[in-house]
Amino acid sequence: MTQTWDPHQYEQHGAFVHELAGGVLDWLAPEAGERILDLGCGDGQLSKRIVAAGASVVGLDSSPQMAAAAQSLGIDAIVGDAEAIPFVSHSVDAVFSNAALHWVRNHDAMLSGVKLVLRPGGRFVAEFGGFGNIAAIRVAMRAAIERFGFDGSKDDVNYYPTPQIYTRRLEQHGFTVDRMALIPRPTPLPASGMSGWIRTFRRGVLESLPEGVRDKIVEEAVRLLAPALKDEEGNWIADYVRLRFIAHA
Ligand code: BEZ
Repeated sequence: MTQTWDPHQYEQHGAFVHELAGGVLDWLAPEAGERILDLGCGDGQLSKRIVAAGASVVGLDSSPQMAAAAQSLGIDAIVGDAEAIPFVSHSVDAVFSNAALHWVRNHDAMLSGVKLVLRPGGRFVAEFGGFGNIAAIRVAMRAAIERFGFDGSKDDVNYYPTPQIYTRRLEQHGFTVDRMALIPRPTPLPASGMSGWIRTFRRGVLESLPEGVRDKIVEEAVRLLAPALKDEEGNWIADYVRLRFIAHA
């Protein structure tokens, strides 16, 4: 299963991803003149904020559509794989990443690449889904997929480690961890609600299922989730948990 992205759909249903990223940007604290790699830059909205601080940014994203969206904002973005970062050794002052690393399958390959590309002492500042992230959504998606006779593990496409486990992984790759926090972040969804969220962020999972059941699976997951994640005024709040860290090479 490969997640696919449509920048227009993402902007419509997922703008909160960059709107809520102020915390990790504060931890990055970009400085004028720094060269920063934005790993999984997506549509480039955060790269743009880093550029506004005076740093020079190179974005890397596996989705050609998202890299093109970033380029349209004036970002120097290239298409590439986080597990095989196509950059010269010791060529950046910092690697930044928001809401992307939970899609990476081989974290050891990615961490080796980040370590290599950073100058000695350079920092790796990132935020992604942490342990317990979207737990209710995952249970509901699994149940809905199984209800229609398919393998519920099709939904297991992301990685959400604990702070302890991810600290160890960073250390095994030669990083020193300066800060690490697991941050519950209940996240209000736009008007498109849970259905819009599932269709955007579980697009790859849905595309791996026969077309005729996709809408039914979305409806079933939405039905199961309403008692847990919909408030009494009808607003959807997703059960996000973030893992945020600063480590240095
Ligand atoms: C997240 O940011 O935690 C996330 C987004 C989409 C799918 C799964 C997790």
